[in-house]
Amino acid sequence: MASPVAQLGQPQWTLALSTVEHHTPIVGTASRTLTWQGEEDTRAFAERLAGHPAIADAFIALHGDLGAGKTTLVRHLLRALGAQGRIKSPTYAVAEPYELPGLAAWHFDFYRFDDPREWEDAGFRDLFAGPGLKLAEWPEKAAALLPPADLDIHIAVLDDERRRVTVVANTPRGRELLA
Ligand SMILES: Nc1ncnc2c1ncn2[C@@H]1O[C@H](COP(=O)(O)OP(=O)(O)OP(=O)(O)O)[C@@H](O)[C@H]1O
Ligand SMILES: [Mg+2]
Repeated sequence: MASPVAQLGQPQWTLALSTVEHHTPIVGTASRTLTWQGEEDTRAFAERLAGHPAIADAFIALHGDLGAGKTTLVRHLLRALGAQGRIKSPTYAVAEPYELPGLAAWHFDFYRFDDPREWEDAGFRDLFAGPGLKLAEWPEKAAALLPPADLDIHIAVLDDERRRVTVVANTPRGRELLA
C-alpha cells in the first residue's frame, strides 16, 4: 500500500520535473533583446558588461551591417575597462592588442580576412585558446576558424540613433555576462 507521504510526494515531483523541463538548460543558449535609443545606451550597456568579472577571459562576437555600431560598442567597452588614448578600428591590421588594468584584450575586425594561413601565422589560434578578452567584428568572415563565442551580440540599425540588439549567451561565461 502506498504511504501517504508517497501519495503526497507524487504530484510535487511531477511539478518539479516539468518546471525544470521548461527552463533553458545550463549548457544551452539564453538570449535577450534590447533597444538602444542612442549612443548613451550603447555606452551604458558597455559599462555593465565591463563590470562583470567574467569579461576578463570572454570571447564576444559582434554581428551587424557596416555602420551598425560594433566598433562603437568596442570603444565604449575598452574605455570602461580603462583603455586610454586612441582606440582605432583594426580593419587593416585585423587585430589590435590592449594592455588594460588587470587584463589583456584584443579587438579583431575580420572584414578583410581572407587568408586562413594568417590564422596560424599571426598566432590567432593560440590567442583564442588563451586568457584575455577577445572582441571580434565580422566573425562570419573567419567562421570556420573561430571557436564558439561566449556572447554573440547582433546589432541592427533602426534609425540614425536607435539600435535593436540581440545578445545570445552560448556558454556559462556568456550567461554570467548576460545576467
Ligand atoms: N545607439 C548607437 N550605438 C552605436 N553607434 C551609434 C548609435 N547611434 C549612432 N551611432 C553611430 O553609428 C556609427 C556606428 O559606426 P561603427 O564604426 O561603430 O559601426 P561598425 O558596426 O563597427 O561598422 P563596420 O562594419 O564598418 O566596422 C557611429 O558613427 C556611431 O556614432
Ligand atoms: Mg567596425
